[in-house]
Amino acid sequence: MKVLGIESSCDETAIAIYSEEEGLLGHKVNTQIKLFEEYGGVVPEISARDHSLKIIPTLRDALAEHNLSPSDIDLVAYTAGPGLVGSLMIGETVAKTLSKICKIEILPIHHLEGHILAPGLEERSLQPPYLCLLVSGGHTQILNCKAYGDYEILGETIDDACGEAFDKVGKLLGLSYPGGPKISKLAQSGNSSRFSFPRALMNEKNLNFSFSGIKTSVLYALEDLEKKDYPDVAASFQEAVCDVLIKKLQLALHQTKQSRLVCSGGVAANFNLREKLKCLAKEENVTVSFPSLEFCTDNAAMIAFAGYIRKKYNLPKYNTNSARPRWPLGELYD
Ligand code: KG4
Ligand code: ZN
Repeated sequence: MKVLGIESSCDETAIAIYSEEEGLLGHKVNTQIKLFEEYGGVVPEISARDHSLKIIPTLRDALAEHNLSPSDIDLVAYTAGPGLVGSLMIGETVAKTLSKICKIEILPIHHLEGHILAPGLEERSLQPPYLCLLVSGGHTQILNCKAYGDYEILGETIDDACGEAFDKVGKLLGLSYPGGPKISKLAQSGNSSRFSFPRALMNEKNLNFSFSGIKTSVLYALEDLEKKDYPDVAASFQEAVCDVLIKKLQLALHQTKQSRLVCSGGVAANFNLREKLKCLAKEENVTVSFPSLEFCTDNAAMIAFAGYIRKKYNLPKYNTNSARPRWPLGELYD
């Protein structure tokens, strides 16, 4: 079985081909980051227009690289939501057109399920049950993945997503969008204990997060500081965010008694977080998995893989036939 994955939910136009026998054959990501650097965030209309320009050439390249044509594909899996509606509809239209003309089976995929399953792309023995920390630009959740397609949300952010906090603080530090990778780099030369930024809800016995207050604290701190202090701000901010994520994850491990831990989504690319997760795993005697950096941020390989898993395990088809910009993971089949 060969699965073609299509991802266009936000600012990446991505195509991938996953083979049941050989694993990931190839994937292409056309990122729109350069388009949005000057705006400090994604502009939905510009994003949709760029997807429309890039998706067919990206598809062509991905197929040509492996001497494949649409007739070699057995399943088209595309991101149906959540995301920007105009951007989602570009991927959806391409998926539906390919499916109709070439008579290929089609499966809509939930973007977050792609992230949740992403570590299994490379670590082929990895299977649920596991505990998943999902940290991206739009979401921050701790999930109990009991089985494929069965994801219980144990806790989530009550305001900003973790990646969003990185992006907003990046903006305060004069860094271009997206701030996450740049803060991470700046933090390497900083002192993470110089500033004690708030660790909201850290000692509460629930698994929720709040990241909206920390950017205000950073804003106030910056009033008395100079540019030379920015690496210390970046390192202290990153430390505070990672501390909260790790503390809540530890609580979730104790509550669920899971023996496997997974971290995915764009912020899972953060070096400091990955190191802290490894320490936590050692301390709690559990295993930890995260995707390679290229599969942490948005890509189509994880969508193709989610399509493959859903098909292989004959999971029920999502009840959706058109793009769903807002689609909570808790309403997967609604
Ligand atoms: O998963 P993703 O590509 O898109 C969404 O589904 O949201 O995540 C993008 C987010 C951005 O907020 C970006 O700043 C953050 O992931 N990010 C990072 C790092 N790389 C990407 N945050 C912290 N450290 C990084 N190294
Ligand atoms: Zn994502």
